[in-house]
Amino acid sequence: MIKAIMSDLIKKQILIGISGGIAAYKTAELVRQLIKKGANVRVCMTPSACEFITPLTLQALSGNPVHTDLLNRNAEAAMGHIELARWADLIMIAPTTANFMAKLAHGHAYDLLSTICLATQAPIHLAPAMNRMMWANIATQENRKVLINREYFVHDPADGEQACGEIGTGRMLEAQELASIIENMFTKKQPLSGYSVLITAGPTREAIDPVRFISNRSSGKMGYAIAKAAKALGAKVTLVSGPVALDAPAGVQRYLVESAKEMHHQAMTLAKTADIFIATAAVSDYSPAKISTQKIKKSTDILSLELHYNPDILFDVSHHYPDLFTVGFAAETENLINHAKQKLQRKKLNMIVANPVGNNKGFDKDTNQLEILWENGHISLPEDNKNKLAKELLLIISKHISKDS
Ligand code: CTP
Repeated sequence: MIKAIMSDLIKKQILIGISGGIAAYKTAELVRQLIKKGANVRVCMTPSACEFITPLTLQALSGNPVHTDLLNRNAEAAMGHIELARWADLIMIAPTTANFMAKLAHGHAYDLLSTICLATQAPIHLAPAMNRMMWANIATQENRKVLINREYFVHDPADGEQACGEIGTGRMLEAQELASIIENMFTKKQPLSGYSVLITAGPTREAIDPVRFISNRSSGKMGYAIAKAAKALGAKVTLVSGPVALDAPAGVQRYLVESAKEMHHQAMTLAKTADIFIATAAVSDYSPAKISTQKIKKSTDILSLELHYNPDILFDVSHHYPDLFTVGFAAETENLINHAKQKLQRKKLNMIVANPVGNNKGFDKDTNQLEILWENGHISLPEDNKNKLAKELLLIISKHISKDS
C-alpha cells in the first residue's frame, strides 16, 4: 500500500550544498528525509566535500546527478550554475565549514557552490560544523554576523562530543532538525497565525458556604471546542475556565478559576496581551452577599439569600481594551436575535454569537446552532457538531480582523 505524503515540502525544489567537513555523513540522511517528505532535491558538493562522502551516495539518495564542477563543459551544458541558482526554492549548506563561511562572507565565487550562492535569489540556510575552537574564533564569529546581516539563516551548531575528540560547540544539527527547519519555511500561513486569542469558558461557582455554591448547566464544551480550533488555526490560545470535566486542549494555556470575580480578574489581566477575546463562559450574574464560613444549618422554614451583582467580564474587557476584537455569546430561551442585538450594543462588541438554550438545546450538548451577528451583518450556522461550528466561527472572525487591520 502506498502511504499518502502529508508535507509542505511536496515538489519543493531544495538545493543541498555540502562543503568539506566530517559532518557530511549526516547530510546523506538529510537528503533521504527530504525525499521522503516529497521534495525534489539536488546536491552540489565542493571538491573537498567529495573527500568525505562520495557523490555517488548523494546521487543514489536524491535520484539526481550531483553537481560538483564549475568549469566542466558537460556539467554546465546539463544544468549550469545560473540554472541551478534559479531552480532552487531554498538552499541549505550542510555542513558549512569555517572556510566556506569565510568564502560566503567575502563573496568569493571560485567553486560551483559559492558561485550559486552569489547568483541565487533563494533563501540560503547554513548549518555550520567545525571544531569548537574554530567556531569560537573571532574570525568565524565575525563572518557569522556578516552573514546574518545579509539575511543568511545561520543555524548554530550544537554542543557535544566532536569528531576530533573534543567536547564543545561545533556539532552540526541533526538531519531531522534540519529537515524540520526546511519544512517550516514552507508551512502555509494559517488564518489565525500571529494572533493571540483569549477565551472564557464553562460555568462559575459562587460559594454560599464551604460546601454549597450557585452555578449553572454550562459544560464548557463550546469554549473548549473554540480553544482547540483556534490552536489548530495557528493562534496562541489562552483559556480561563470555570470548573468543567474537560482536559485543556493540547498547546493551550489554561487558567482554572471558580468564581465570577476570579474569572474577571484573570480575564482583565490576560486581555492586555490578547488580540481577540471570546467570552463563552456562563458567568453567574449574582453571587451571595456573604459567604458563610461554616456550613449553614437547617434552622428556619424559609432561608433567604441576599445576592449581589457580579462584575460583567465581557463588558469590562471590551470597554477597557477598545482595540481588542471582542466576541460575546448570548444564550437565550426566547427572542434570540433581538436580545443578542441589544447585548452587541450594550457591551460594545465586535460580534455576538446567539444560541438557543433550554428545550434540550445548547448546554451540555455536543451540538449547537449559532446566529452570528455584527454591526451590519448576520450569518446563521445551522445545528452541527460544536467542533465544526467552532472552526467556522473562527474563520468568520479571522475575515473580520483582516478587514479591520
Ligand atoms: N458575560 C460576562 N460576565 C458576566 C455575564 C456575562 O462576561 N458577568 C458574558 C458571557 O460570557 C457572554 C455574554 O456576556 O459572552 C452574554 O451573557 P448573558 O448572561 O447571556 O448576558 P447578560 O448580559 O448577563 O444578560 P441576561 O442575563 O440578562 O440575559
